[in-house]
Amino acid sequence: MNWSERTVLITGASSGIGEALAVEFGRRGASVGLLARREEVLREVAGKVEAAGGRALVVAVDVRDAGEVKAAVGKVSARFGRVDVLVANAGKGEITLAREFDIEVVTEVLSVNLLGAMNSVAAVLPEMLARGAGQIVGISSLAAFRGFPGSGAYCASKAALSTFFESLRVELRPRNIYVTTIHPGFIDTPMTRGRNQKMPFLLDAERAAQLMLGAIEARRRTYAFPWQLATIARVGRWLPAALYDRMLANATLRE
Ligand SMILES: NC(=O)c1ccc[n+]([C@@H]2O[C@H](COP(=O)([O-])OP(=O)(O)OC[C@H]3O[C@@H](n4cnc5c(N)ncnc54)[C@H](OP(=O)(O)O)[C@@H]3O)[C@@H](O)[C@H]2O)c1
Repeated sequence: MNWSERTVLITGASSGIGEALAVEFGRRGASVGLLARREEVLREVAGKVEAAGGRALVVAVDVRDAGEVKAAVGKVSARFGRVDVLVANAGKGEITLAREFDIEVVTEVLSVNLLGAMNSVAAVLPEMLARGAGQIVGISSLAAFRGFPGSGAYCASKAALSTFFESLRVELRPRNIYVTTIHPGFIDTPMTRGRNQKMPFLLDAERAAQLMLGAIEARRRTYAFPWQLATIARVGRWLPAALYDRMLANATLRE
């Protein structure tokens, strides 16, 4: 795939997975639209993308605002010609314990992780449909597969994101638009750093970005990794509820 002729737009590009993906696309010579709220941090990422061999444009946006995201996509298209690939990556990983249930936090998680991704899709889709080409990548999580104690809002947001992307995938394939849903396990990023929780098969963001880029290039429908945790998560999906509850009974994240 000749990335030097392609434009990738990444939301949540100011840190972690989004930053690592941006640099990885830069290494392949791509033009990269970098979206997130923190403009100064995005500028540093832009420097890394350019040092790696790519081109970068920074646009500060809050993905919860559909109008801002649409305007940002307009700026990226004006600079680089079009958006070939959207990576809807911006996300929040807040803990939402049932015993401290806070609807404002839940709303925030769903607004960023789910509606933010939908706003991003809405902003790129009309042009992709008109052109009859494009790829939309959603960064979901293995947490989409079942409900984890302490992560109800996060799991719900990712489960909804995965089913939303699945619907899109089936609908958009005849229009020559590819949809890829990625389900990462634990990745070492600011989101997971300092968590009081076991994180089996933890990967660094750079390795994760390389694996994800391979899945994007192959236009995989879904990609779950690392394979060890993905296998456990897939098996866990089929466990009867009573057994699942017993196994997870002591897994609450914070005391
Ligand atoms: N780390 C993991 O173990 C893991 C596992 C599975 C899935 N994921 C998913 O991977 C994605 C990236 O997570 P990460 O681990 O790289 O976390 P991270 O380092 O905390 O990055 C989150 C990114 O989202 C952006 N963001 C948050 N709220 C936003 C908003 N309202 N508008 C625009 N941008 C916003 C942040 O930028 P600003 O603060 O500058 O806005 C930041 O760039 C998330 O969707 C996460 O759920 C992560």
